[in-house]
Amino acid sequence: MALRDFFYQLSESELLNGAAQKYGLKLGARSVVAGTTIPEVIESIKKLNSQGISCTVDSLGEFVFEEEEAIRAKEEILAVIEAIHNEGVDAHISLKPSQLGLDIDIDFCYDNLREIVERASQYGIFVNFDMENYARLQPSFDMLQELAKSFDNVGTVIQAYFFRAKEDIEKFKDFRLRIVKGAYKEPADVAYQDKLEIDINFLELIEYHLLHGKFTSIATHDHNIIAHVKRFVKEHEIPNEKFEFQMLYGFRTDMQAELARDFNFCTYVPFGKDWYGYFMRRLAERPQNINLVTKQMFNKKTNTLLAVAAGAFVLGRLTKKK
Ligand code: FDA
Repeated sequence: MALRDFFYQLSESELLNGAAQKYGLKLGARSVVAGTTIPEVIESIKKLNSQGISCTVDSLGEFVFEEEEAIRAKEEILAVIEAIHNEGVDAHISLKPSQLGLDIDIDFCYDNLREIVERASQYGIFVNFDMENYARLQPSFDMLQELAKSFDNVGTVIQAYFFRAKEDIEKFKDFRLRIVKGAYKEPADVAYQDKLEIDINFLELIEYHLLHGKFTSIATHDHNIIAHVKRFVKEHEIPNEKFEFQMLYGFRTDMQAELARDFNFCTYVPFGKDWYGYFMRRLAERPQNINLVTKQMFNKKTNTLLAVAAGAFVLGRLTKKK
């Protein structure tokens, strides 16, 4: 069993998600999650803005199966929009449709999204729909297209591991798009499994949108991809206004500052109590990030949570084998 799969399974544990919320930002999550409250995240944004870095703010939330929870998530995002406006910081919103009720009822989710997009549009703030797993892909695209009939401050993400990504990028070429490799564990009938195939598709999608699209956010920590894009934009004389690089908060911070000196750069800034699933996916995609965890290994509560996590994982495996 690869370490990667171990973390993917942990990321999907509702039980551990609940436990982690009680412990606050532990397991090293503090270095990659910008706090748990709006004032904390605004402080982090101000620091990044002072380095010439703009931000996209994610009010973390997963496993939302109750309407009240989705409404709470919506209220929190609306409060973030107000804070961005009132504080005059350079930031926009990233959200996940599942957090706003996609797994409860699509019309309910759409109404929540519409309220958020409408409020943000009043202040000229852009809203990005993060893309989740395959089952949520088409309904998310459908809601985005419907909203785009009334608002122009919306965009989304194209995940390069999906076979259908090229078709989707053509369909959405008039949108501001973030292009990523893809963070979820997807089956072989819908997504490339091989790293090289994903990288090749990723580059082809980036090149396509840089040449034909509205605005491209190249979201990666991969220096080889970044070096390729730098050469490509130079060769094709693509102006800086047409694209930006994006990375996640707390990762490769020296490289973030360096890129921000020459290009538009945006940091994805997650915050909130619901940090667990986000953090486990970061460990899954790059198990070396485990050093974020080991730095805090001697913290007692961390050890407790890790022990519970390992126990739940083993139990999950045993139950599956039956
Ligand atoms: P990858 O993890 O493939 O690493 C490639 C190489 O880069 C490594 O072998 C290593 O050499 C180097 N490297 C990577 N990270 C490093 C580090 N921390 N330090 C040193 N070297 C490092 N996914 C999704 O499904 N939906 C979404 O909406 C989003 N949104 C999103 C926003 C932003 C801003 C980012 C950066 C990413 C996402 N993702 C995402 C996640 C994305 O799909 C992907 O899982 C991760 O970015 C990991 O892939 P990378 O391209 O960063 O490099």
